[in-house]
Amino acid sequence: EIFEDSYEASKVVAAEIADLIRQKQDKGEACVLGLATGSSPIKVYEELVRLHKNGELSFHNVITFNLDEYYPMDAENRQSYYYFMHQHLFDHIDINPENIHIPSGQVSQEELNQYCIDYDMKIKQLGGLDFQLLGIGRTGHIGFNEPGSHINSGTRIITLDHITRRDAASDFNGIENVPKKAITMGVSTILKSKRIIMLAWGHKKASIIKETVEGQITATIPASFLQNHPNTTMIMDQEAASEL
Ligand code: GLP
Repeated sequence: EIFEDSYEASKVVAAEIADLIRQKQDKGEACVLGLATGSSPIKVYEELVRLHKNGELSFHNVITFNLDEYYPMDAENRQSYYYFMHQHLFDHIDINPENIHIPSGQVSQEELNQYCIDYDMKIKQLGGLDFQLLGIGRTGHIGFNEPGSHINSGTRIITLDHITRRDAASDFNGIENVPKKAITMGVSTILKSKRIIMLAWGHKKASIIKETVEGQITATIPASFLQNHPNTTMIMDQEAASEL
């Protein structure tokens, strides 16, 4: 779906998320959301916060799982995705802190494998993700599933692509400060979500959007796996759609 601009599109996405949360509330059920970082979802979070502040939306039944975190990374670090999520969403809504899950960049190397298995297990035990919000990296990554990520991959530690680290360099005051690794939710974890919305804004995303939407389904472009997902919408502005 192509929108005039990211602001209008983000309002539509936030409205869908809000509706889902309310439907689950009416049934007395939890709503399990997969959340993304990066610049793309910021306006969606702003709109969700606005709905909450207006008294139109409560998050008391919401359980969240974030896609990824740099590794190693302290939660208090301003570059952490933990910090990002609290700054843009969690500090402004009535979610129970115990319902927030963000991969920890502070897990020891020895515990990492089990930690990642447990992350997937928690999602599974809740019946899977009801909704997953995604951005897309210029390598075609979703979460931090870089090129080469297998369709069956679970949550795990991954080595970041050079392009991804270069794109993050300005946040870290230089590429040399960007962590080389990250923990990411796996492709299979993402694809099991009942509903997926991927966001893409701006010219910088135009060529990877073309490959994702019109190209072959391949691990070289992990976002292309979404073509086979039965309930995915890719939402973009005119610029991101300009090469389609
Ligand atoms: C990071 C995140 C991804 C995100 C991507 C795109 O790499 N790990 O989840 O989709 O950035 O970021 P942006 O939305 O800023 O373009």
